[in-house]
Amino acid sequence: MRRVLIVGATSPLARYMAHEFARAGDRLFLAARDEQELERIAGDVRVRFGATVHAGRFDAEAIDEHEAFLQTVLDALGGLDGVVWVAGTMDGLEEAFRQPSAVRRLIDVNFSGAASLLTLCACYLEQQGAGFIAGVSSVAGDRGRAQNYPYGAAKGGFSLFLQGLRNRLSKRGVQVITIKPGFVDTRMTWGRDKLPFLASPQRVARESVQAILKGRDIAYVPGVWWLVMLVLRAIPERIFKRMNI
Ligand SMILES: NC(=O)c1ccc[n+]([C@@H]2O[C@H](COP(=O)([O-])OP(=O)(O)OC[C@H]3O[C@@H](n4cnc5c(N)ncnc54)[C@H](OP(=O)(O)O)[C@@H]3O)[C@@H](O)[C@H]2O)c1
Repeated sequence: MRRVLIVGATSPLARYMAHEFARAGDRLFLAARDEQELERIAGDVRVRFGATVHAGRFDAEAIDEHEAFLQTVLDALGGLDGVVWVAGTMDGLEEAFRQPSAVRRLIDVNFSGAASLLTLCACYLEQQGAGFIAGVSSVAGDRGRAQNYPYGAAKGGFSLFLQGLRNRLSKRGVQVITIKPGFVDTRMTWGRDKLPFLASPQRVARESVQAILKGRDIAYVPGVWWLVMLVLRAIPERIFKRMNI
């Protein structure tokens, strides 16, 4: 039995990851801003799997509250063995091409909020000498693209943060994994046509949890994105800037 915190638990991807952990008998703390939806999801996981599931409000942007939030989690679960960061947003992407406040918000939620809470979790797990940190980043963080670079930059920063954390904590018994989904069929991609390799949140959740439990360092999900991004990263900038991708 592990004690696992899932942040951004109202996302379908996180919800199905919660199913995977609960099925394995783990105790969960589900966190996000929408408390009503959280309670609904927590109740559903309790009934389906007979699991112990706590739920609590968490706002990535309220960095001053992160320390108290982690203490609430530790009190509820009686400790912590793993944290899965799934929270993220692409809201305001269009505005972010012009407005400083919009670009800052994308960075605050997708990067600063994640780095803040995971820094606190890392200190706890490092002292314990065991545990895991899984961060859901994105293939969008692998290369700056004209269509989404304010979001991609935040995810790219998050991937680098996780990489450094992994290299620090690997000597301390703590596993850090970077999960890089391609397109997932959720609210974030709703209404966008012909997305290549679009995967269901169930599939991405299942493969992500498998990667965590196998102790992987980086997992592209589905795996085909490893090859896609290898090719995309190899295209020289002078050609890439003329392409419409
Ligand atoms: N969908 C895709 O194609 C795709 C591809 C690659 C990576 N991803 C990543 O996968 C993760 C899940 O995304 P999704 O597609 O499932 O989108 P989603 O349904 O919009 O879920 C986003 C989650 O983030 C939470 N969140 C947003 N702002 C927050 C804040 N300020 N504080 C705390 N939580 C916040 C939301 O909860 P509340 O609103 O309740 O706070 C929700 O649980 C994200 O990190 C996303 O970047 C998605």
